[in-house]
Amino acid sequence: MKSSIIAALNLNLGYNKDPLIIKNASFQVKENDFAFITGVSGSGKSTLLRSMYGNLPIRDGHLSVCGFNLLNAPKSSIRKLRRQIGIVFQDYKLIKEWNIERNIMFPMVISGFPKNSCKIKTERLLRHIRLEHKAKKYPLELSGGEQQRVALARALAGNPKIIFADEPTGNLDDYSSDLIWSLLKGVNEQLKITIVVVTHRMPDKISMHHKHLYIENGVVHEMV
Ligand SMILES: Nc1ncnc2c1ncn2[C@@H]1O[C@H](COP(=O)(O)OP(=O)(O)O)[C@@H](O)[C@H]1O
Ligand SMILES: [Mg+2]
Repeated sequence: MKSSIIAALNLNLGYNKDPLIIKNASFQVKENDFAFITGVSGSGKSTLLRSMYGNLPIRDGHLSVCGFNLLNAPKSSIRKLRRQIGIVFQDYKLIKEWNIERNIMFPMVISGFPKNSCKIKTERLLRHIRLEHKAKKYPLELSGGEQQRVALARALAGNPKIIFADEPTGNLDDYSSDLIWSLLKGVNEQLKITIVVVTHRMPDKISMHHKHLYIENGVVHEMV
């Protein structure tokens, strides 16, 4: 039996004193799952994801991620959690003044890994995303699909247990989207990293075994 890496019990989420966005959600994501969160625009997908990476305080209920209890979590435990996860956004969030190599390598350097091993790892990641020939290019010299591959490499650089991705293919054409989905599938199957991905549209060819959380009117349904 796989153990759960994310567990929510009667979880309520909302902004300030506004009405709840996510109501009484209970679900689990197991180690090495590939989980999709879907729902119409504004249904609360990003809200739910943000709570999982400690970017939105929990109104009440229980949420644990990688063994960290996120209800009233102090900043120090959010920082520790962040070291165990990688995050990918719809708009890539690369640093445009830095070349690709530096975008991938710098988070490892500031985490205190020896420079030489950071360099070797960066080269390996660049090969993995098939952009070794563009190592010295800057983000705006790359296509959207290429930038998203760099963002994924950066997320992988810290050896995360989980990758959270919010609409990672939202700005991409079908060809680039397929590449991102197959990279994520490989990360899940070969590196055994748990994936939680928000998308308003499931990929057409989902060949991976997956879990599906569907949000409707604030209720999180586990689809089977
Ligand atoms: N920072 C915020 N402050 C107040 N309300 C917000 C904030 N961010 C999102 N919301 C509201 O929460 C609801 C869900 O938003 P969101 O989680 O972004 O939806 P989705 O990602 O499914 O499109 C929306 O009604 C949105 O207006
Ligand atoms: Mg969203």
